[in-house]
Formats: sequence, structure tokens, C-alpha cells
Amino acid sequence: MTPEAAAKFKMFEDKMKAENLSAAAILAFKNSYAALSSGSSGMIEEATIDPATDVPYLEGDIKGKVTGGEAYLPETVVLKLNGGLGTSMGLDKAKSLLPVKGDDSFLDLTAKQVIEMRKTFKSNVRFMLMNSFSTSEDTLEFLKKYPELANDPNLELVQNKVPKVDVNTMEPAAWSANPAKEWCPPGHGDLYAALSGSGKLDELLAEGIKYMFVSNSDNLGATLDLDLLAYFATSDKPFLMECCERTESDKKGGHLAKRKADGQFILRESAQCAKEDESDFQDTDKHKFFNTNNLWVRLDKLKEAIDASGGLIPLAMIKNGKTVDPQDDTSPKVFQLETAMGAAIECFKGAGAVAVPRTRFAPVKKCNDLFLLRSDAYVVNEHYNIVLAPERNGVAPVVSLDAKKYKLVQQLDAAMTAGTPSLIGCDRLTVSGDVQMAGDTVFKGTCSVVNKSGESKVLPAGEYADASVDLSEAEG
Ligand code: UTP
Repeated sequence: MTPEAAAKFKMFEDKMKAENLSAAAILAFKNSYAALSSGSSGMIEEATIDPATDVPYLEGDIKGKVTGGEAYLPETVVLKLNGGLGTSMGLDKAKSLLPVKGDDSFLDLTAKQVIEMRKTFKSNVRFMLMNSFSTSEDTLEFLKKYPELANDPNLELVQNKVPKVDVNTMEPAAWSANPAKEWCPPGHGDLYAALSGSGKLDELLAEGIKYMFVSNSDNLGATLDLDLLAYFATSDKPFLMECCERTESDKKGGHLAKRKADGQFILRESAQCAKEDESDFQDTDKHKFFNTNNLWVRLDKLKEAIDASGGLIPLAMIKNGKTVDPQDDTSPKVFQLETAMGAAIECFKGAGAVAVPRTRFAPVKKCNDLFLLRSDAYVVNEHYNIVLAPERNGVAPVVSLDAKKYKLVQQLDAAMTAGTPSLIGCDRLTVSGDVQMAGDTVFKGTCSVVNKSGESKVLPAGEYADASVDLSEAEG
């Protein structure tokens, strides 16, 4: 950092110290602030990378060839990332608390999976949640119904908060009207600083916990797979990333690659790709894999890597431009600095990747995803895993709900007061315009419902098979 940037950083450091944030949290933020103040583009040129190779497939290369994963359960912790607010779906609490199957929320199903696994294998596999200051209270209250989990003093890891950066001064943003808005969550890359800075990493290691499986709390496909556990444990890799093959609809998102200089796996996100490399970036035959955010981390190697880098895992910085009060466009412009946990793949020498089926990547990002999971096309099996109903023969219906009318969960719930329609026999459903489902509705084959009028229209209850329904002229 230049002396000027270092002097400004001191203001951030003092602000963080006054809130009792750990040295690990301050160091991680310093790394991001240094990247911001250097003005470095963070671009990864196509000429410096090779397509990712050495990626074995779970189905084909691993399943059936490894055994005995259950032996590692006593040394394993399952950690769910639960610090985000699901703002893009209009939520102001943890997305994991949303009902997804009957009355069960994402968190209910995850809790039941862990409890079931403990019973089946008579093993106390550990479970942790990384909450943020915004999700902690609601989540802990909710989990009281599972005393076996709630009474564990190590259930929760609370992530750090970081100061927002005033765009004009590059100093900590000030907002006396509501000082809480001067802070933001640092993204899930904070996992490593939160674990080490809170002392939990040392505690877990002292208790003999060596393997950590981390995933997003809204991804119910990310179950603790014993074959993957066995593969990871016997591979001696410090870090393993579950990847899926990119398709046409994933081409704008980031991809896995290998750094030419040393053969290290790295991730390249779209913001790290220059215009002239865009066609290579979007070539899904060349750059075949994306990160699912299901990660396996060796905790002893994590500690070694943190110590070797002077107290942090140095992650690429992600810069988000906002206003200090997101509800007030006239409030000062700020940068929120974040990091992503998967970026750590480049920080672990010898890190690996494994290609997993798409079923292990089922995050709920839009109401389409939630609607589909809530429908009878998906069922909960005896392990509390949510899987496609057998009648679907492994193929999910393709659902496209009007992006504006069903953007928020509140809009979805208001349109489906009688429950989610049956999709078990449906291949494709398109709904455009403001459509309310009146009662028991069954869609079969390929159906579309259109409402071009500006008003809300009701689709009468009943069965629709290969139907194109136009409600534009219907009575409201
Ligand atoms: P995302 O930010 O990708 O997804 O976080 P999201 O939950 O859909 O959030 P919005 O709609 O963009 O606001 C992926 C996972 O990481 C967690 C989230 O809770 C989610 O499980 N997360 C995210 C954290 O734990 N901490 C963070 O600071 C950010």
C-alpha cells in the first residue's frame, strides 16, 4: 500500500478494533482494501491459463472404487453457510428458514439429515452454521426445536462484519442517521478468517476434527456424500472443490482453470475476464467446469496455509458499488468489499477438483427454483434428502415464471395461497403476467398461462394437459 493508503487503512483498523473484531478479520480486510487502493484490475488473461484437467468424475471415477467413508465421520464437520439474507428474493432473514417442503424449511431438512446420519452410523458427525449478525438470532431461535443441535456450544460460527468504504474519500463511510449501515458482511470468503479469528479452528483441531464439508444452506443437493468423504480423506488433498459441467446457461458465470505458471487450480470470475477474452471465457467446451460452492477443506492444512501466509488466506477482492443506505439513493456512494470462499482453491498447493452430477448443485436463487422444489416433482427420501420423484425418471420439469410478477417470495406465496400446483407430470410450464392459482391445479405435458392485461387474473382450479391458457380477457 502507498503511505497515503496505509494512513487511510489505519482508520479502518481503528474502527474494526473498536468493535472487537479479530486480528484475522482485520488482516483479511486489509488484503481487500490494499487491492482496492492499488487500483489493480485483478484480470486473469486467457494466455496465462489452461483449461482445467485432472478432474475426476464422482460417477465413473470414484463411486464404486472407494469405500469406508463412514470411518471418517467422527473427524468430520458439516458447515452450512447461512450468513446471507437472500435479498434478491426479497428476504430480510436467512433463506434457509423458508418452508420448502410442506412445513419443513431448508434448515429443518438439513438438521434432520444430520440427526439421521448420526443415528445410522452411530457417529457424532459435527454440524455448524456460519451465521452473520443479521441471521444469527432468528436461526438460533428456529433451531431450538432440535435440542441435539441447539445445545451444542459449537453450533454457531458468527462471521465478521467490515466497514463500507466511502467512494470519494476511500475512508470508512459515515452514516450517523443509522451507524449500523456503515457495516456490511464480507461475503462467504470470510469463513477462513471467522474460523481462525474466533479460535474455532484451533478448537476443532484439538477435538480431532480434520475434514470440513462446506456448502450453501439453500443447496439441498449438497449432502454429506460418504464416497466423496472417503475420496477426499484418502487423497490427502488440502482442498477439494465440487464442480459441475457448464452448459449454455452457465456460460456467463465463472469457471475453473489451471494457472500455466505452476499448474495450480484457480477460478476465473466474469469480472476477472477482459473483453478480448470473453469468447474463450464463454466457451463451455474449453472451460468446462464451474464451482458449485460445495467444498472440502482439511482443517490442519488450512491452519498451515494461514500461518504460511502471515495470518490469512489471501483471497481475490470483489467490489460492489452501492449507497451507504441502500434504501436512500441520495446517501453517499460506497464500495462493499467481499471475498468468495471458492477463490481459496488457488491458495492451497495441491488443491483438487471433482466433477459431480448436477443433483449436488440445487441452490434456490429465484422463485422458479423454490416453486419447483415445493411441487410434487420433488420428494423427501428416507435420509431427508430432497430428490426428484421416481416418476420423473431423473428429469426435472422446466419452469419459467414471470420474472417480475414472481420475483419475490412474497409474490409467489400470494399467488399460490391454495398451495403449489402439481408438476409431477409436467415437462414445461411457462407463466407470463400476473396469474393467481385459485386452488388444486395440475399441470401435465407442456403448458403455458398468459395474462397480458395489466390486472391480476385467476387461473381456475383443475387439470391442464398440454394447454395454452390465455387469461388476458378473463374476468379478474
Ligand atoms: P449468495 O450471496 O450467493 O446467495 O450466498 P444468496 O443467499 O442467494 O443471497 P442474495 O440473494 O444474493 O442476497 C451463497 C451462500 O453463502 C451464504 C448465503 O447465506 C448462502 O448460503 N453467505 C453469503 C454467507 O454465509 N455470508 C455472506 O457474507 C454471504
